[in-house]
Amino acid sequence: MQQRILSCIQPTGEMHLGNYLGAVQNWVKLQENYECFYGVVDYHAQTMPYNTEDLRDSVMKIAVNLMACGINKENLFIQSLVPEHTELTWILGCVTSYGELSRQTQFKDKSQQLEDKSETFISTGLFTYPVLQAADILIYHPHLVPVGKDQEQHIELSRNVANRFNHTFGVEYFQEPKALFTEIPKVQSLADPTKKMSKSLGDKHYIAVFEDENVTRKKVKTAVTDSGDTPAGEMSAGVANLFSLLKACSTENSLYDSLMADYDSGNLKYSALKQGVADVVVALTNGFKARKAELMGNKKQLVEQIYDSSAAIRLKAQNTVREVREITGLAQSKEAAVERFLKNF
Ligand code: TRP
Repeated sequence: MQQRILSCIQPTGEMHLGNYLGAVQNWVKLQENYECFYGVVDYHAQTMPYNTEDLRDSVMKIAVNLMACGINKENLFIQSLVPEHTELTWILGCVTSYGELSRQTQFKDKSQQLEDKSETFISTGLFTYPVLQAADILIYHPHLVPVGKDQEQHIELSRNVANRFNHTFGVEYFQEPKALFTEIPKVQSLADPTKKMSKSLGDKHYIAVFEDENVTRKKVKTAVTDSGDTPAGEMSAGVANLFSLLKACSTENSLYDSLMADYDSGNLKYSALKQGVADVVVALTNGFKARKAELMGNKKQLVEQIYDSSAAIRLKAQNTVREVREITGLAQSKEAAVERFLKNF
């Protein structure tokens, strides 16, 4: 039987090249060999302060962008269109200890972020975020969960929760999911290559996958190459980042190899490296932009597809929740309840 994969993404605005190379590209590839479930997690987005209109729009935006990058529509769902995730969260919350949630570093980081902004309100949702994540995962019984290293602790919690559920109820129901860490290219900011590429640093720091080609070319052209503090004999962070982008976005290695040979012999022209990077990035992203334009040609169908695939995926989640309700002693179907009542009372 084909192994199953689940992963989810937060609906945060624009997709940048770091997101694509770090996660989405891998998700696309995994579709060839696995049964895949990919969710856009809007319930999770509610754990931090947010704007309601923006949330709705960014969920659709990221869903469309994922499809444009090659995620099959049948594999894609919007988390809140599968409300069973929240029912399972409640049940799993009752086999998750307060102590293990308190030790989650993401909670500590995010609540600190809020405090730094003089925000005194920290929601229970932020605290129980990992239980919702465990529900996202366990509800589809996946074998593997492709994620970044930052999610390791959350996957570990999901494994513990699966285990504790099985133990508590004396069943072998949930299998422990394994994190799948794939080697991913390190993509740094263009304007400050000592930092990871991220939108929060500002416009000139990242390449958005769907931005205009000229914007991308300009950002690459003005990327920092050498800030002057690189020890002799070492490649500067900026140049290393450009090489890494070149490699990650190219379909073949000859340009990379020849520019690297130039670097080794001390003949590298930064302008040639930048030209090469801009060309491969644009060649890659133009394909996604074309696909997006095609999808956007029929907007009604596009939205309906996302809803329909969420509905199809929901059937699997409903099946799990039905079984979990049975295992955990919650109310049964009317027929089963009548039969039981007649027998026991
Ligand atoms: N917490 C993940 C992140 O911030 C997103 C996420 C939610 C997730 N549910 C998940 C990832 C289930 C993997 C599996 O990136």
